[in-house]
Amino acid sequence: MKKITAFIGSARKKATYQAIQEFEKNLKQHEEIDFEYVFLSEYNLKFCQGCCQCFEKGEEFCPLKDDRDVLLEKIEHSDGVIFATPSYAFQVSARMKNLLDRFAFMFHRPRFFGKTFTAIVTQTIPVGDNIRKYLENSGANLGFHVTKGCCVWTLDPMTESQRKKLEQKVKKCSERFYKGLIRSKPPVPSLFRLMLFRFGRLGVQHANVRNYDYYYYKDKGWFESDYYYETSLGPIKKLFGYFFDFLGRQFVKHM
Ligand SMILES: Cc1cc2nc3c(=O)[nH]c(=O)nc-3n(C[C@H](O)[C@H](O)[C@H](O)COP(=O)(O)O)c2cc1C
Repeated sequence: MKKITAFIGSARKKATYQAIQEFEKNLKQHEEIDFEYVFLSEYNLKFCQGCCQCFEKGEEFCPLKDDRDVLLEKIEHSDGVIFATPSYAFQVSARMKNLLDRFAFMFHRPRFFGKTFTAIVTQTIPVGDNIRKYLENSGANLGFHVTKGCCVWTLDPMTESQRKKLEQKVKKCSERFYKGLIRSKPPVPSLFRLMLFRFGRLGVQHANVRNYDYYYYKDKGWFESDYYYETSLGPIKKLFGYFFDFLGRQFVKHM
């Protein structure tokens, strides 16, 4: 049975929770799913102190002793993950941002390949999709296969037509997520993601100091591989890959 975990950046069981409940209901129409709700407010997650030990020496050197690894393990044991947050001051809630800060070492060393990710944002002022895009990018940086999320308008109380709209948007979002979930292997990267990988590894290889990232990349074989994981790039993307390596080397030479 597939395991899905929803990380929720609101402390209330209201709009964001309702959107996730709707998502769960839709997903379960496809097959039986083990669905877990994780309210970040119920976990002890301290603010990052900015010491950079996780980047430079490894995440086990983080001086904060709290629930970071409990949350991380929940992702490791999941096939798919949803990051859901209300808009607070036109951004993700502080709880959600704190989770991303504490997971930022995995932006350097992504690991959730083959797992599906989506984002759900609730807001009262429908000014755009920036928060959803921010969360989706964060998911991709962590290594997930990201399916387009949704941004829903939630007034309190909600009118019938607003509720209908929420249901439709969440349904579409869950359909995309489910398609991602049943993929047999992770997708071929986009040119943009391929470029980030090729430039990123040059940065790691030619950094002034050989920190933890260097040994991690070496250990994973990422200095020689086409991408983070085995994938068939095809001739055009292969060529682009060489081109990005070339560009990156020129950049490093002239730095
Ligand atoms: C501190 C705070 C800041 C908020 N800022 C915004 C905002 O900038 N834009 C917006 O559209 N809604 C904003 N809202 C409204 C919430 O995003 C909205 O009501 C959301 O659906 C609440 O989700 P919840 O019921 O799961 O807590 C804010 C709410 C709070 C409490």
